[in-house]
Amino acid sequence: MSIVICSPSGGERVWGELLRLALPGETVIESATLSEHERSSVELVVCWNQPEGYFRGFPNLRVVFSTGAGVDHILRDHSLPDRVRVGRIIDPNFGKQAAEYSLFAALSHRRKLTTILSSRQSRTWERSSFSELPDLTAGVMGGGQLGLACADLLASNSFTTRVFRKSKDACGIHRVETDLAQFLTGLDIVVCTLPLTENSAGILNAELFSNLNPGACVINIARGEHLVEGDLLAALDRGQIGSAWLDVFPVEPLPVTSPLWNDPRVFITPHIAAFTDRKHGASFIAKSWSDFGETGVLEGEINRLRGY
Ligand code: GLV
Repeated sequence: MSIVICSPSGGERVWGELLRLALPGETVIESATLSEHERSSVELVVCWNQPEGYFRGFPNLRVVFSTGAGVDHILRDHSLPDRVRVGRIIDPNFGKQAAEYSLFAALSHRRKLTTILSSRQSRTWERSSFSELPDLTAGVMGGGQLGLACADLLASNSFTTRVFRKSKDACGIHRVETDLAQFLTGLDIVVCTLPLTENSAGILNAELFSNLNPGACVINIARGEHLVEGDLLAALDRGQIGSAWLDVFPVEPLPVTSPLWNDPRVFITPHIAAFTDRKHGASFIAKSWSDFGETGVLEGEINRLRGY
């Protein structure tokens, strides 16, 4: 039995070493060195940004683990056999980091960073657009490990919060909305932490923007495919959206030709809202995999039909 780590965009060797340390009895193979005759021994694949069709040719594959919080890169690969179970790392640090990023963006909006930067550019002492600090309402889309942490930190920093999620279950101190239109009404800031699924792709669109308060802020730390970029640019032009913080893009790195680079109200960050702590990640996967062998329960497993 063996485990393959596949991460062509970087980190394969480090993940290999950490998984070997965490699973001393197992054979861990880096994908770049995997030979044909080793494929039939592979039962677990751990991956990020694997090439399309990657899961073909592993006759004994049982589990695929993401090295991150998202699993969309795994589920969209048509070569993933139906029988294979899929998991992702659970780490409170993902939430903490995502929350810090959201707070940073939300406070920048509250403190009118775009105005400060443009005044700085023209060396203008511009006080007239600033008055008392406004009370702002922030809505977080998604009630998972990232969404809840974001809502908690925003609430403890003077934002009125609400969470959009599928179930009506209580969500700490936050108002819970299962209806998108009701969730959006009266929002000054919207933070997207949703998993990427057929239902959530393109959800940050013209209609959603038109339901927010004028001059609202959009923060996307989920996946680039959630955002309809043309709709955002049009909403910025109309003043419907005042600023946007985008950490994720359908194509990364964001191409230099993207019109998003041209708008000073769009803050572009290179997918840095939350990082996987590889040491924690490797021990989480190792424990989940060992327990799975004994109990059949896979900690961190997602529901493949639901997509998260
Ligand atoms: C990052 O985007 C992740 O899914 O962990």
